[in-house]
Amino acid sequence: MIKRANLFVEENKAKVNSEYRQKYHFMPPIGWMNDPNGFSRFQDLYHLFYQYNPYKAKPDLIHWGHATTKDFVTWELEEVALAPDQAYDSDGCFSGTAMEDEGKLYLMYTSVHKEGQQTIQEQALAFSDDGIHFNKCASNPVISTEDLPEGINPSDFRDPKIWKDSNGFNCIVMAKDEKLGGRMLLFQSLDLEHWDYKSDFIQADPELGVMWECPDIFRLQDKEVVLMSVIDLPEKDYKYWNKQSAVYGFGTINGNGEMLLDNPFEEIDYGFDLYAPQTLEMKDGRRIMIAWMQAWEDSIPTQELGHGWAGTMTLPRELSINKGLLIQKPVKEIENYRNELVCYEDIVVSDETITLDGICGNSVEIEMEVDMKDAESFTVNMFETQSNKVTLTYQKDNEELTFDRTNSGLEITSKDYEKPNYRTAQLKLINGKLKLRIFIDTSSVEIFAQDGLMTITSRIYPIDKEYGISFNSKGTAYINKINKWYLA
Ligand code: FRU
Repeated sequence: MIKRANLFVEENKAKVNSEYRQKYHFMPPIGWMNDPNGFSRFQDLYHLFYQYNPYKAKPDLIHWGHATTKDFVTWELEEVALAPDQAYDSDGCFSGTAMEDEGKLYLMYTSVHKEGQQTIQEQALAFSDDGIHFNKCASNPVISTEDLPEGINPSDFRDPKIWKDSNGFNCIVMAKDEKLGGRMLLFQSLDLEHWDYKSDFIQADPELGVMWECPDIFRLQDKEVVLMSVIDLPEKDYKYWNKQSAVYGFGTINGNGEMLLDNPFEEIDYGFDLYAPQTLEMKDGRRIMIAWMQAWEDSIPTQELGHGWAGTMTLPRELSINKGLLIQKPVKEIENYRNELVCYEDIVVSDETITLDGICGNSVEIEMEVDMKDAESFTVNMFETQSNKVTLTYQKDNEELTFDRTNSGLEITSKDYEKPNYRTAQLKLINGKLKLRIFIDTSSVEIFAQDGLMTITSRIYPIDKEYGISFNSKGTAYINKINKWYLA
């Protein structure tokens, strides 16, 4: 099945419609991609696996695709790593993680199969000496439904996160408890093949959605960090406006295999499209996060238009913690791809709309600092044509930053419910100033505000092929400096 998948990709990738293909974000050449998997460092390369169906722009038959990189911007496509070719994973090799141990790269994934009408999710292991060709373990599934504590639905038991410490091997698997909602089950093992349920790593809470997915756990600046993705997390003020939300928490792990959170979870991103993030540690110690830039509940125009592909990753982001909040910055290496700088200083925008020569495009980075001392509001319009635009507006009096893709081009609709195509978040100015780094690619916008204190990540599908950018203010806004680079 792996050979067949690789051959299919080779023979069909030229048929993909490239209208909305990204320029500097990772995408497979053809087919469907969702979550990042097994994001790891092995033998001097960084490995990104991903949920992949090469055959269609739909998630029918999930494999693990694979790419490697040295700098997180240029990716080398590798052979498909896992195919659903065993009885226990015949309905898909779902999400999971990677771990290096004694010179081998291990992948732990969710093996899905059907028993009659019922879907069964269990955890399986694969290993490799070269990081490219994987063997599945003979005793798979290594964590089966028999290992489940009471109350768990075997159809929702997935997304193992594996790591090694002084206790041996640890694996957290997400599960759905009929009463408690999402649960994070910690299993332990000494040999990777026999696992025992140890504890609920984070205490379940029926208020925290119906199911948890895709955990990541790592240490950053003396804190334990947990990332996860939650289905149906109830909306609260500015948070959780999407049906599925990626969240983070900081805390400490006690001797009983439980993580105690310092504070309630926070949302990772205030756009529409950041899900199932995973991280790795770079050789130089930087912690890099990547996520699927898509929402399950939203329509995907490239799928509906028959373009032959669907799915792109976010920019890889460097993580840090500042004042109890997670800070995200675009991976530094992206700066090596900057070209053709256009730069302005001291631009005054006073109750008007202005454009600046050379500030436009759909494969660009824009970096700017705006002094809001005499302004009520300031807006950046992107992908602007006669009929469409994407807007980002800061309102000073209520300290709100609003991203609006309502008129951005092809309409994005949510499957089962009405979801607005704008989002508002609360953000403070720093010394009266708004700092932005905006990454525009063919079908996405990523905004890093106030040095990575807040991010807004969204897909957009412009119809007209003009990529105007303009600025607008109520009152007087001073653009102290604006840099624009072409990225390629
Ligand atoms: C999250 C997810 C995971 C699952 C995978 C299936 O996006 O639903 O929980 O393993 O996608 O592709």
